[in-house]
Amino acid sequence: MLVQHFLTLDDLPPEQLQQLIDRALHLKQSTCAGAIYEPLKNKTLAMIFSKSSTRTRVSFEVAMRQLGGGAIILNPGDTQMRRGEPIEDSARVISSMVDSVVIRTDAHQQLQRFAEYSSVPVINGLTDDYHPCQLLADLLTLRELRGDFSGCTAAWVGDGNNVCHSWMNAARIFNFKLNIATPAGYAPNASVIKSNKQAIKFFDDAQSAVDNADVVITDTWASMGQEDQKDRRLSQFESYRVDQSLMAMASDDALFMHCLPAYRGMEVSDSVIDGKQSVVFLEAENRLHAQKALLELLLS
Ligand code: CP
Ligand code: NVA
Repeated sequence: MLVQHFLTLDDLPPEQLQQLIDRALHLKQSTCAGAIYEPLKNKTLAMIFSKSSTRTRVSFEVAMRQLGGGAIILNPGDTQMRRGEPIEDSARVISSMVDSVVIRTDAHQQLQRFAEYSSVPVINGLTDDYHPCQLLADLLTLRELRGDFSGCTAAWVGDGNNVCHSWMNAARIFNFKLNIATPAGYAPNASVIKSNKQAIKFFDDAQSAVDNADVVITDTWASMGQEDQKDRRLSQFESYRVDQSLMAMASDDALFMHCLPAYRGMEVSDSVIDGKQSVVFLEAENRLHAQKALLELLLS
């Protein structure tokens, strides 16, 4: 039987993604009202994190508990993966005992290799190329605050990274516009540009990209694994900081979004991230609710 993985947003048809976001909103409201809903009793989620995580780890673990199941964290350094047990063998072994696996790793290809040999759904908890679970939460946040967000204009300012790639996919799938401004040399991957070209538009400077936008989004200038480039990137990204003067170019009720963790004073000023247009903590909370809907879909 074909296993339904979630490695990018494109792994689910658009209608199912839309239903998933609506379902997440419903689960959020019913959980907040005190309802107990445990469809995943006796189910186990394994989580393999090769990189640090706060939100992804906590939200998946709490999601499994709230749905009646449990989660185990596997630090690759503590498993036989450290001594070189092949991904293919690890995938066969782990998936024979659990009901789903979340993986956070570097190369997207490693995730794909694991998924190929896994007998249970594999979920992308972030790779160098994509962060689809973040987008489920971000789209839930827009749905909650704005209702129908198709047709809106979002602006991505900063590094053309994994989170940017998933926003590009989301813009195509959900039919909104995504303006992108990155410093020269930091554009998104050419293949991701190609597959999303109808939804995205590039700008030479942050101000033009943000002009009249409904949503302004940024992320760290140096992702995990790029720490040695931090100093160089700092000077190249200086004019891409989201501060109050940049936010003033967007529409009056524009939202500010960031997947977190943020480097305050770098890609975003304190006044913006703590300001009234910022929804960053709602995005973080919505990781839980969006992933509950995802786990329910993949594991039920
Ligand atoms: N946004 C996000 O994925 O956060 P963590 O790195 O804390 O999981
Ligand atoms: N782009 C960031 C996202 C962290 C959630 C990174 O990959 O480090």
